[in-house]
Amino acid sequence: MSDVLLLNGPNLGILGRRQPEIYGTDTLEDVERAVAEEVSARGWRVVAEQHDCECGLIRAVQDNYDSVGAIVNPGALMIAGWGLRDALANYPRPWLEVHLSNVWARESFRHESVLAPLASGLIAGLGALGYRLAARALVNTVE
Ligand code: DQA
Repeated sequence: MSDVLLLNGPNLGILGRRQPEIYGTDTLEDVERAVAEEVSARGWRVVAEQHDCECGLIRAVQDNYDSVGAIVNPGALMIAGWGLRDALANYPRPWLEVHLSNVWARESFRHESVLAPLASGLIAGLGALGYRLAARALVNTVE
C-alpha cells in the first residue's frame, strides 16, 4: 500500500489546546483522521509524524522518500529550518506546505518561508480544512 507523509512541526502536537483563537479547536488526531479519510479514495495510508525538534522532522522525511507525496506544516521552522529544507530538497515527490493560520496576516517574522519555494503548493489561513484540501490536491494530482 502507498503512504502519504503527514508531517507536523514544533508545537503542533498540542493542537486543540494551543491558542485555539488562532489555530482552531481540532486536535492533531482530528487532522490525521481527516487526511486519512481523503486519501483513502486512492487506497493510500497516512504516515503521520509530529516532532518538536527539527532533527525528528528531517529523519521522518529521509525515512519516507518512497512515499507518494507529503503534506508539511513546519510550524515556526518555516522561518529558518534550513536542515529541513535540505531534506525536502531531496524529497522526490510532490509535497504541499500547510499553515492553519494566514501567516501573512500576522507578525512580520512569519512572512517568509524558506521551504515554500520547494513546495508544489501552499495553503494558509483555512484552519484544519487546509490539511483536507492539501490531501485532496495530492489525490487529484499525484500520478
Ligand atoms: C503555523 C504558523 C507558524 O508561524 C507557527 O509558528 C506555527 C503554526 C500555522 O499552522 O499557522 O507553529 O505553521
